[in-house]
Amino acid sequence: MPYASETLLRASFFDITALATQPDDILANARYLEDGLLTLREGKVVTLESWEIAEGRVDVTQVIDLRGKLIVPGFIDTHIHYPQTEMIGAFGEQLLEWLNQYTFPVESQYHCPNHAEQMSAFFLQQLLANGTTSALVFGTVHPQSVDALFSAAEKLDMRLIAGKVMMDRNAPDYLTETPEESYQQTKALIERWHHRGRLSYALTPRFAPTSSPELLEKVRQLREAFPDTWLHTHLSENQQEIAWVKALFPEHDGYLDVYHQHQLTGKRSVFAHCLHLEDREWQCLHDTDSSIAFCPTSNLFLGSGLFNIKRCWQQGVRMGVGTDVGAGTTFSMLQTLGEAYKVGQLQQYKLSACEAFYHATLGGAHALDLDDKIGNFNAGKEADFVVLDPAVSPLQKLRSVNSKDIWERLFVMMTLGDDRNIYQTWVSGRPVWQQGTHQPVEGCCQPSKLPG
Ligand code: GUN
Ligand code: ZN
Repeated sequence: MPYASETLLRASFFDITALATQPDDILANARYLEDGLLTLREGKVVTLESWEIAEGRVDVTQVIDLRGKLIVPGFIDTHIHYPQTEMIGAFGEQLLEWLNQYTFPVESQYHCPNHAEQMSAFFLQQLLANGTTSALVFGTVHPQSVDALFSAAEKLDMRLIAGKVMMDRNAPDYLTETPEESYQQTKALIERWHHRGRLSYALTPRFAPTSSPELLEKVRQLREAFPDTWLHTHLSENQQEIAWVKALFPEHDGYLDVYHQHQLTGKRSVFAHCLHLEDREWQCLHDTDSSIAFCPTSNLFLGSGLFNIKRCWQQGVRMGVGTDVGAGTTFSMLQTLGEAYKVGQLQQYKLSACEAFYHATLGGAHALDLDDKIGNFNAGKEADFVVLDPAVSPLQKLRSVNSKDIWERLFVMMTLGDDRNIYQTWVSGRPVWQQGTHQPVEGCCQPSKLPG
């Protein structure tokens, strides 16, 4: 479909215009326009200005009037597993038992391209229904899982980073591969998808316990051959997991050192969780300019621990927020920020709404090394954004009229809000999701059931 020459939207707007090195920078760079005009052309932002300034020169009949709504940059989910959508909320286990009992059997279903295709469509609809326009996504070990996801994301022109899981030990036979198979399949996927439109590839060794040194050597070789790919894995999530890594890799100086010695740290390396880091590991993440995905609902649900937001700022480590579905319990970034606040409270850290929205937008973009492309409304940025309905339920409305300013309204949105507050989601300058519309989802050949 050709682009209309310009798209003009009138609403309230909130974004953070520049990167922060400490929390105080965020408020200093926050932009709130009670009545603003956003101009888009060819899927990119041209300007964001106050309505008062723009009014004289625009043709009012061409303006999409969204007054009463708040438009913010699209949310960026820096860690999520699409093949765990159908097992979200699995009872009773912590990480290692949870993987064996629930995760591996469900992921086995993605050998079926039909299943992968249907779940990809469902997954992307969940992202959009929650205002998430970009994500860093785990597939399964099956290349067809990633083909299906990228194909579906390409149709929506979403900026998505994903990869096939690489694992060759300590998992069921039906999900393991040889290092050579892993290398060849990953290489073929990179050649097929990396930098195709808005899609990018992430090398995705599941975590150290399911990786032999030979497999990690293959990952290293791929990173050397394709240095602008991403690296996406888990790190220091659970105490049993950490002890296991130390037993499996006794010659290494702790968990992160396993990745570091294989040259898998660095810019565009994103480590999910990082709950129990040692001092030298924090330092290594800083020195290598690596990133962390903070996943509050997952960390609470699996009883893994509390992420130290304050320490992350002090160490100068890039950080974004991840839902980590299906250990995480929601696709909603609003709910995830609400849980992040509670994680902060348990450690006497006051996570303001302004800071929380930063982590979910520009900060997440920085964690993914995409801050030159997405994360705010600066001129030239890709036009991915969410139109929020600030108050949708009687309780939200009551609380909203009892809020004194935008900061309180934003805070209430991340405390009481969820997918009901997502009025529209726009990707590449086009509306791709609208509240109240339901995508039909058909049944599938596989045991997982989809709603009819
Ligand atoms: N560590 C290794 N695999 C996983 C996974 O699928 N989810 C979480 N939360 N942690 C992991
Ligand atoms: Zn995860």
